[in-house]
Amino acid sequence: MAYEVASIPGDGIGPEVVDATQPIFDDVSEQFGFDLSFHRYDWGSERHLEQGAMMPATGLAELEEYDAILLGAIGHPEVPDHVTLNNLLLPIRKGFDQAICKRPAILFDGVESPLGGYTSGDIDFVVYRENTEGEYADMGGQEHPGHGHEVAVQSSVFTRTGTERIVRAAFEAATEREGKVTSVTKSNAQAHSMVFWDQIVEEVAAEYPTVTVERLLVDAASMDFIRRPEEFDVVVASNLFGDILTDIGAIITGSMGLAPSANINVSGEFPSMFEPVHGSAPDIVGDGIANPLATVLSAAMMYDHLGETDASDALWDAVTGQLADPKAPRTPDLGGAGTTEDVVQDLRSRL
Ligand code: NAI
Ligand code: MG
Repeated sequence: MAYEVASIPGDGIGPEVVDATQPIFDDVSEQFGFDLSFHRYDWGSERHLEQGAMMPATGLAELEEYDAILLGAIGHPEVPDHVTLNNLLLPIRKGFDQAICKRPAILFDGVESPLGGYTSGDIDFVVYRENTEGEYADMGGQEHPGHGHEVAVQSSVFTRTGTERIVRAAFEAATEREGKVTSVTKSNAQAHSMVFWDQIVEEVAAEYPTVTVERLLVDAASMDFIRRPEEFDVVVASNLFGDILTDIGAIITGSMGLAPSANINVSGEFPSMFEPVHGSAPDIVGDGIANPLATVLSAAMMYDHLGETDASDALWDAVTGQLADPKAPRTPDLGGAGTTEDVVQDLRSRL
């Protein structure tokens, strides 16, 4: 098989982790006998600063031709975050109808959780985050700027289609895992959108009698991610809540540098996008110590999506093996003194 993948390294440590991991992906193609070529797009904040746009006007049309997209990170100290997000990342997620955002949180053997008493395998859940609407819908505005009665309105949008497909994806996933779905809302305070969400969970749950359903309010869920993370299997949440909860999921399983994600276009009409959960990490940019494993695991999710499951498994195994090996190099976020390059070279030797 041959695949064409658009690579958008982006900003900050994005190019560091995406460029450093390329040789790993070349190894994998060779080893598993397929042809996967990356086409690099230097889109992002530098482009915005020089040319006034994060990507060209034809950006989405160019990307549409690819089998998948691998993205590093977006975010620059000199460009407001709402500009970077709303002019590159969100247009791709929405424009390509990448409705399902899948973010696993796994405590690997050899990785220490900041939570006491947890060891390998104790934490293993996946968050299904609604990815194209909800609280991140671009609906609202500002009125009377500069006056005393200045006002801002930001609306959330929950459609039946959008809500039902993320909920259904979570239930489907649960049937292949431990059979439990936790739906996270704030139905007590948001009595329109979240009660609607609950109603759809109810309807879909009726079709999956073998799946256990748990309902949590997001504040309690934030606490329970810390208090009893071992009890979660599949968590389903809106765009905003899923975004916040997955940072908690990343840190309780060791590091932002380990958390991968997939933005899936269910129909297959458009490419899906794979990216580490972390941002551009301006605090460590240029130091050569960014953890590349979140990018590697995001690529593993990409191979799985493309149907190259052996390649995907090989990457998961190599990462698992490296983390379990006390002699293997690790980056400072995992308590080591290794560089991005050390981790990549070690991983290549394991493949
Ligand atoms: P961040 O994820 O960039 O960094 C949070 C902390 O985690 C920092 O201490 C950082 O050094 C550490 N970290 C993150 N990735 C790491 C890695 N691979 N290896 C080692 N340590 C790592 O989040 P922050 O600081 O809130 O945001 C920085 C910029 O990134 C902002 O402009 C923000 O808007 C953007 N951002 C972009 C995202 C994306 O592209 N999907 C997601 C989150 C934030
Ligand atoms: Mg986030």
